[in-house]
Amino acid sequence: MRLLVTGGCGFIGSNFIRMALRDDPESFICNADKLTYAGNPANLARTVKEHPGRYVFAKADIADHDTMLRLLEEHSLDGVVNFAAESHVDRSIIDPAPFIRTNVLGAQTLLAAASKHGVSRYVHVSTDEVYGSLGEKGAFSETTPLAPNSPYSASKAAADLICRAWHKTYAFPVIVTRCSNNYGPCQFPEKLIPFMYLRAMRDESLPLYGDGGNVRDWIHVEDHCRGILLALLKGRPGAVYNFGGNAERDNLAVVREILRFCGKPESLVRFVADRPGHDRRYAMEYSLAAEELGFSPSRSFEEGLGQTLRWYADNPEWVRGVTSGAYLSFIQEWYGDKV
Ligand code: NAD
Ligand code: TYD
Repeated sequence: MRLLVTGGCGFIGSNFIRMALRDDPESFICNADKLTYAGNPANLARTVKEHPGRYVFAKADIADHDTMLRLLEEHSLDGVVNFAAESHVDRSIIDPAPFIRTNVLGAQTLLAAASKHGVSRYVHVSTDEVYGSLGEKGAFSETTPLAPNSPYSASKAAADLICRAWHKTYAFPVIVTRCSNNYGPCQFPEKLIPFMYLRAMRDESLPLYGDGGNVRDWIHVEDHCRGILLALLKGRPGAVYNFGGNAERDNLAVVREILRFCGKPESLVRFVADRPGHDRRYAMEYSLAAEELGFSPSRSFEEGLGQTLRWYADNPEWVRGVTSGAYLSFIQEWYGDKV
């Protein structure tokens, strides 16, 4: 397939491009990425060299209709996977505006350009966070009502509903995928796992929000990317598919596992003021994706976490490249004297 992948220099998008180019020797990918603080061309440096002639990069904004249309036409693209987003909940609390601009207006603009060009396959990548928060039992299914609690998840839910309207109104073949928390190589170290690992290795305090008892379902990024590829190739137009990792852990348990891996003491943990609107628990029921796509997560959390932390240990230059200037000012602005 000839694909437009948006946000392909980010964490999940870059892992997806690596997998798609490797698994389908016929594929061609145009990666359109605005290169925000989270977009890092280094994530794809090796991949680009390994697949000459099958990959092009365009520094572009999904909210720019004419550029999206031009890329689709110029490269005769017949499928789209939209990863482009502002993705960090804490940043959305500081300033929701870029989240609405990219995640809502950008998502709609990309749908409009892809409709005009006429693509046969379109996957919009969304999140379990659109469903809100669970109590101690149960799991989200695709029919759980949307009840987002952060500006980030509200912007993602808005885009999911716009996708739904595009299918119902224009018969546009969009598929929405909703996945739980990803971890793996190339994740920007503002997210829990790389953030805590890098701080622990420097003997810095580890700020856990609230009582550390909030639960996330963790999935390795390659399991998520495989699900997206399956949705792209086999998904039903108009469908929503949940993906989960079968790995519910509370945040304290995740941080303890990281400390064990690093050989660092638990005294590094600091319980700090809770994140406003902090969802207590996420869990995913993904039987629809299992039945219709043949999706199932393959990696255990403990195995995947160890491989991931080793990747960070083995790539100090990548870490140096993403933890300078703007990163440090975000950490200062968000955590202040909490850390
Ligand atoms: P990320 O922040 O690592 O990467 C986002 C990428 O999008 C960056 O390369 C950035 O430069 C690019 N981008 C941002 N605004 C853009 C714009 N206007 N135009 C073009 N490119 C733009 O995010 P991620 O963790 O890789 O997440 C990718 C997608 O998956 C997002 O849509 C996110 O909501 C969704 N998702 C993430 C998770 C997770 O655990 N990280 C879980 C479920 C779903
Ligand atoms: P995060 O990686 O930001 O993902 P999300 O909020 O999208 O689930 O956070 C994962 C969990 O870890 C979430 O419950 C918030 C918590 N957390 C902390 O307790 N401290 C931190 O410094 C960070 C970044 C997250």
